[in-house]
Amino acid sequence: MPAELIDGKAIAATIRGEIRDAVAKRTASGLRPPGLAVILVGENPASQSYVRSKGKACREAGFHSVQIDRPATITEAELLALVDECNNDAAIDGILVQLPLPRHIDESRVIDRIDPRKDVDGFHPVSVGNLVLDKPGFISCTPKGIQELLVRSGVETKGKFAVIVGRSNIVGKPMAALLMRKGRGGDATVCVCHSATPDLAAVTRQADILIAAVGRAEVIDGSMLKPGAVVIDVGINRVEDPAAAKGYRIVGDVAFDSASAVASKITPVPGGVGPMTIAMLLQNTLESAVQHDTAE
Ligand code: GUN
Repeated sequence: MPAELIDGKAIAATIRGEIRDAVAKRTASGLRPPGLAVILVGENPASQSYVRSKGKACREAGFHSVQIDRPATITEAELLALVDECNNDAAIDGILVQLPLPRHIDESRVIDRIDPRKDVDGFHPVSVGNLVLDKPGFISCTPKGIQELLVRSGVETKGKFAVIVGRSNIVGKPMAALLMRKGRGGDATVCVCHSATPDLAAVTRQADILIAAVGRAEVIDGSMLKPGAVVIDVGINRVEDPAAAKGYRIVGDVAFDSASAVASKITPVPGGVGPMTIAMLLQNTLESAVQHDTAE
């Protein structure tokens, strides 16, 4: 029997509905809507598409949504000044600088400049530190969305062996921290694999929960899974396909057909993790607005 699909699109739609209702209640009681500023530098088509989706989701949820476009020739100093403006704007609760940035700009310097109270991406060192130390703070949207997917799909994490393939700052590292936290969606035993792991399949075959965040098309297949494993595919990879309308197809880091013959549950690509990332961005921004209300 093929694996059950974990429908990220449907779960994200439910969460976005919950957020829309909460925003409507806020504004009905005279509070301002949550505000998100998204800064897009340059003309990377994938980034443009992600930013468009984020703006649309914000507007649908009733947020105050600002998109700030700048050319790839912007200097680092100009970009830092723009972040400062957003830091000082009382209508803005969350700031997202879309990555990657052009090579002449130091990404970490830009992220460090975001006020941690507005760091709804959860990339600032203060946010990452808070996550690891189990203190309140913003959690990176993709791992937070994956945890929510697992919980809302009835996947028990407590006592399970979770294997994460990929050690990025955005997914792998915060995912490991979240799954090993105490409580809901946590209490797992976690292993992080990466490019220097000698026998990847020997590790992935032990996983009750396998999270693939490598950024390479279909590198995990059914032969690398334990029967009944839960598989979460974070990858969004373009592969050329002359038969496809756009000349390419989007596939994950997991070879879907072969994995779904072995797994018990699996996320599709697209329609799995991706929609959850946006839902968590909205949730973080709403949380930030609530914190700013009480701080005024
Ligand atoms: N680029 C790809 N994904 C993301 C994300 O979640 N946040 C930001 N800021 N940039 C990205």
